[in-house]
Amino acid sequence: MGAVEIKPGIHWVGAIDWGVRDFHGYITPHGTSYNNYLILDKHVTLVDTVKHDFCEYTIDSIRDLVDPAKIENVVINHIENDHASSVDRIMELAPHATIYITERGKKALDRFFNTSSWKFVIVKTGHTLHTGAKTITFLETPMIHWPDSMMSYVKEDRLLISQDAFGQHLATSARFDDEYCDQYSVAALEHAVRDYYANILMPFGTIIRAKIVEIQKLGLEIDMIAPDHGIIWRRNPAKILQMYLDMANDKADLRVVIIYDTMWHSTEHMTIPIMQGIRAAGVDVEVLKLRSTPMSVAIKRVWESRAMLVGTPTLNNIMFPTVAEFLTHLRGLRPKNRIAGAFGSYGWGGGAVKEAYESFKKMGLETTEPGLEVFYRPSVEDEKRCFEFGKHFAEKTIEFHKKFDGVQLGKCQDSTKP
Ligand code: FEO
Repeated sequence: MGAVEIKPGIHWVGAIDWGVRDFHGYITPHGTSYNNYLILDKHVTLVDTVKHDFCEYTIDSIRDLVDPAKIENVVINHIENDHASSVDRIMELAPHATIYITERGKKALDRFFNTSSWKFVIVKTGHTLHTGAKTITFLETPMIHWPDSMMSYVKEDRLLISQDAFGQHLATSARFDDEYCDQYSVAALEHAVRDYYANILMPFGTIIRAKIVEIQKLGLEIDMIAPDHGIIWRRNPAKILQMYLDMANDKADLRVVIIYDTMWHSTEHMTIPIMQGIRAAGVDVEVLKLRSTPMSVAIKRVWESRAMLVGTPTLNNIMFPTVAEFLTHLRGLRPKNRIAGAFGSYGWGGGAVKEAYESFKKMGLETTEPGLEVFYRPSVEDEKRCFEFGKHFAEKTIEFHKKFDGVQLGKCQDSTKP
């Protein structure tokens, strides 16, 4: 869509991926964008490149502003393929440019490209790059999102270029939060932020919390945050910092999400009285069938809720495969401060519910035991047991949720703004 000036002399030269629906397994119904930024100063500087398939779009946008051969510095904030897989093409056009990158970024980049003829400066937190009238300060942010990751702060413009952090998978003609919210809604943007965080950054809450505190201690004045995906935060950058702080502190709604799959509808049948029991205890409840729900949607809803009940029939003495896959995926995302329980039907020897609890324990989740098993088909008596099971689980959820009431989650003051 061509370059967009986001600050005087600083231009978005990224690409919008309207068509991507599967981002390495994460379902992206709204596409995404790969953002990067060109600083037109005495020493022309490109911050991040772009996914290889979109390289020529970025180069066209750069060419509209300056001859790419004039790029003197290339900052690589993050080496994942969606941002760095066109570094070779950029270096072909600007062979004398110097790459600014973390040590771990350089080691990884060496595995993807023949870097032997490229010039590098390895940077650490606090190192600076003077582009002329502007000063970029680097801030290492390992594991947000990869070990190599860092952010770039442009002091004169109070601009934080934050790579994956604070992003969203949104393909939109809007470049800024105010434009997007005017076109759609604040709720739609918040939804996209939580979806992205739950599916990508959930494991790194502790690191994110510490990094936000570090940013605050450094006293960086921020009036714009420009991530590598989605819209740029200019109306209210404090909002996204506060959202991240809340999510990193495991804020969740008082709700039970029932995640289940079923063979011959017995486990499915159990969800109804269980749901009624949860409601009878006054707790919000949502029911998601795994085979009808994209994994990333189920992950997000679990992340937003304080409690999860997993329903799985036993198949050959183990969990139903879709449930096992979901729990494996969730385990990698390391959810914290959530309570879990399991139920399901069996016909032969059982085993799925026990296996679900083993999975919860590996994740370090709080659990309520025992789970609930039904032999072949829920009887009227079993339905009553399901109702009581749901009610008891909801009561335990209320108790568990209270631990987080009044917990000081930390505040991002508007002082992040000048
Ligand atoms: Fe958008 Fe971790 O790459």
